[in-house]
Amino acid sequence: VQQYRITLLPGDGIGPEIMAVTVKVLEVVAQQEHIEFSFQEAPIGGAAIDATGVPLPDETLEMCRQSDAVLLAAIGGYKWDDLPANLRPEAGLLGLRAGLKLFANLRPAKILPQLLDASTLKPEVVNGVDIMVVRELTGGIYFGQPKGIFTTESGEKRGVNTMAYTESEIDRIGEVAFATAQKRGGKLCSVDKANVLEVSQLWRQRITELGKKYPDVELSHMYVDNAAMQLVRNPKQFDTIVTGNLFGDILSDAAAMLTGSIGMLPSASLGSDNPGVFEPVHGSAPDIAGQNKANPLAQVLSAAMMLRYGLNQPVAAEKLEAAVLQVLEQGDRTGDIMSEGKHLVGCQEMGDALIKVLVGK
Ligand code: NAD
Ligand code: IPM
Ligand code: MN
Repeated sequence: VQQYRITLLPGDGIGPEIMAVTVKVLEVVAQQEHIEFSFQEAPIGGAAIDATGVPLPDETLEMCRQSDAVLLAAIGGYKWDDLPANLRPEAGLLGLRAGLKLFANLRPAKILPQLLDASTLKPEVVNGVDIMVVRELTGGIYFGQPKGIFTTESGEKRGVNTMAYTESEIDRIGEVAFATAQKRGGKLCSVDKANVLEVSQLWRQRITELGKKYPDVELSHMYVDNAAMQLVRNPKQFDTIVTGNLFGDILSDAAAMLTGSIGMLPSASLGSDNPGVFEPVHGSAPDIAGQNKANPLAQVLSAAMMLRYGLNQPVAAEKLEAAVLQVLEQGDRTGDIMSEGKHLVGCQEMGDALIKVLVGK
């Protein structure tokens, strides 16, 4: 029996609901695949602020470091929205990514045939979409210095963030992106704003240089404004996309809607010398929290990414993914992916349906 220590970070809003469902489902797969999970839970985000005063307690970060993988749900909520940036729930998530040096965030957006009718775009536009967004996660404007709200000489306040990338930061995310593209459709589109920003000019130079090492990958470059448009105009032109922290944040939400709902999209945040964090692309959805309405599938699919990328258990990962396809095939739908003739279920019922499929009943 393979044993793994998993840190669970349920966080805020719908986080605890989708996490509870996912853990139940994971237990079933584990038993079938002779895996033993020892789960340990820690506070992050708003829940940690309420319990300890800070969004990322040292104990939480240390527990994550000591585990084989980290499964995170979501953080944030209205209650904490007026706190200064460094004390908000979001600072906890950013601190976790920085603390574990998780510089590569893989965000796959693949349309499932069962959900063709759930997308707001025409079926012929989204049918067959299979995109991997490789988002740089520990640099760029999220972390560049100087940052802060300063007072100018005239006594006016001035908010400042700095978009900066060093060559080595660009190279290491570039390597991940080229290697990813190589294993997928062999096409890589690097998205930047090199027509305006110096940071993007350096980005483009380095990615182009790196491309010489990967002659089998077809490299293209696109400005981010055009990329936003092309993603909804003709998403099938994309295979793998590599981009910086902020552009990747925005474009991956846009890509999410191609698949029907942000409630479907998982992600993997990876570095080189720490356990990975596996987290849905969506947030804490405070508008539906506590109502058993959340779609748990992004969380379940994040657990599948954990099995595949974090624990090297591809068979268990495929089992989870197959169960997701099967419940969708049966017509079970949470509100965000509901369409005519389907069967509306809650978060917990979606979990029960997955378990039924897994145990073959
Ligand atoms: P959000 O992703 O939480 O919600 C956007 C919309 O999508 C809402 O209408 C919500 O109900 C819906 N939605 C999201 N996930 C869903 C799911 N699983 N099932 C059904 N519907 C779902 O984004 P937001 O409203 O901009 O942000 C809310 C809070 O979440 C903020 O505090 C934000 O900072 C935080 N946030 C956290 C993360 C994270 O933890 N990784 C990511 C994004 C936003
Ligand atoms: C995400 C979120 C986070 C980000 C926030 C909550 C810090 O939007 O994971 O996409 O901007 O990276
Ligand atoms: Mn985001």
